[in-house]
Amino acid sequence: MKHLIRLDEANIIDIERILDLAARMEAEPESFRGELTGRSVGLFFQKPSTRMRFAFEVGVAQLGGTTSVFRSSDLQLSRGESLADTARVLSNYLDAIVIRGRTQQDLVDFVQFGSIPVINGLTAKFYPVGALGAAYTMKKKFGSLTGRKLAYVGDGNNIAHSLMLLCPKMSMNISVISPEWYQPSPDVVEEGKALAKESGTDFEITDDINAVSGADVIFTDVWTSMGMEEEREERLRAFLGYQVNRKILTMAGERPMVLHCMPVRRGEEISAEAAAESEIFENAANLLHVVKAILYYLL
Ligand code: NVA
Repeated sequence: MKHLIRLDEANIIDIERILDLAARMEAEPESFRGELTGRSVGLFFQKPSTRMRFAFEVGVAQLGGTTSVFRSSDLQLSRGESLADTARVLSNYLDAIVIRGRTQQDLVDFVQFGSIPVINGLTAKFYPVGALGAAYTMKKKFGSLTGRKLAYVGDGNNIAHSLMLLCPKMSMNISVISPEWYQPSPDVVEEGKALAKESGTDFEITDDINAVSGADVIFTDVWTSMGMEEEREERLRAFLGYQVNRKILTMAGERPMVLHCMPVRRGEEISAEAAAESEIFENAANLLHVVKAILYYLL
C-alpha cells in the first residue's frame, strides 16, 4: 500500500497493521519519538480543517518530522500552474503529502504525476482517514468488529462512502439510512456490495430509519458538507426525521456507540443530548494516533 486515496488500496492486513500501530503509539508514544526525523510532510488544504490539520501537524512533530501547511492560494497553482507540475516539484521536497482536495481527481493526478505517498485528507467523495479513525475507536471498545453492525444515518456523503468500503473489510454489517435523494453514489454502493459479498456481511442502503435496529454503532455526519452550502435550506427539509436523538438510539436497542466525524451541528443531524452522551470527542482524540500510524506505515 503506497497511498491512501479511497481505502480500496488497503487490504485487511494493512488496516489491521495501521490500527495496531495506532494502539502502540497511543500506549507507548515515547518509543516512536524521532521515527520520522528528517522527514517532511506537506499538508495541502483546499478546504477548511481543524482536526485533520492539527492531528497531522502535532503527530508528525511527535515523530520528529516537520510539516508545511498550505492552501491553493499560497501556491502558483492559484495563478495557473498545473497540478501535474506542482506534484512533480513538491515530490522532490516532501516525503509525503496529505491533501484535502476539492475533487477526488486532484488526488489521482497527484499520484500520477508525483512520486511520494499521497493521503486523502477528505474529498467530496471519500474520507478514508475518518473511516480508519472510527475503526480504531470501535476496536478500542469492542475488540473484534466481526459481526458488529454500524448504522450510518444521514447524508450519503464522503464519510458514508468510506464506511461502506471499511465495514465489509472489517467483517462488519452496515446499513446506510438516508432520505431518497441523498443516498450514496451507485458506484460506491456496487463496490461496497461486492466487498460485503466477499466477506459474507450484510450491506443495506435504505431510507427506512427502522434499519437502526440492532446497531452497535450509529454514525452520523453534517447534512450539508463543505462546498454544498447553497443546498443547506433544501437539505434541512429533506433530512427531517433523520436526526440522531434519544428516540433513534432507543430504536437501536442496547445503547449504541455514537460517532460523528465533526464538526457537529447540534439540533440538526444530532440532538444536543445524544451528542453529549456520545463518543464523538473520544473519536476526535483518537485521530491523532491514527494519522501518526498511517504516515508511519506509508513511510
Ligand atoms: N462530510 C463533511 C465532513 C467534515 C469533516 C464534509 O465534507 O464537510
